[in-house]
Amino acid sequence: MSSSNIPWQQLRTSALHATTLSYAPYSHVTVGAAAITESGAIVTGSNIENASYGLTLCAECSLVSDLARQGGGRLLAISVVAGDGLPLAPCGRCRQVLFEHGGKSLIVDDGSDHPVRTIGDLLPDAFGPADLDTRSNS
Ligand code: THU
Repeated sequence: MSSSNIPWQQLRTSALHATTLSYAPYSHVTVGAAAITESGAIVTGSNIENASYGLTLCAECSLVSDLARQGGGRLLAISVVAGDGLPLAPCGRCRQVLFEHGGKSLIVDDGSDHPVRTIGDLLPDAFGPADLDTRSNS
């Protein structure tokens, strides 16, 4: 799979379906995410809220759990939508979580015909795994 032949419609349809699996009794904002890996696997996630509001799991976190459970790999492109089917910008925490598993070149759907926006655009100068190697005191 390469960045030039991303199945955006499939990702958007899968993300919208994932919104139907959300647990969002507090905000009533259902969120679904779907991504494709470099090896062509599709992984999905839904937001899971909590009565202790701050413990809510975003759809992107749920997706990263699915990624691990499917054997891991690198994320190439991701679509995140709300229940209305329109793109939803990943929150700050999720930008960091996604950076870990796709790096700065991970393409984030903006709803256009040919999305080019990346996690590197959304989270410039991100702290990542390489920094742990170079900034450790030991
Ligand atoms: N939410 C996500 O699932 N992903 C984001 O990137 C932004 C917000 C969810 C969390 C919460 O369940 C609801 O949207 C409202 O904040």
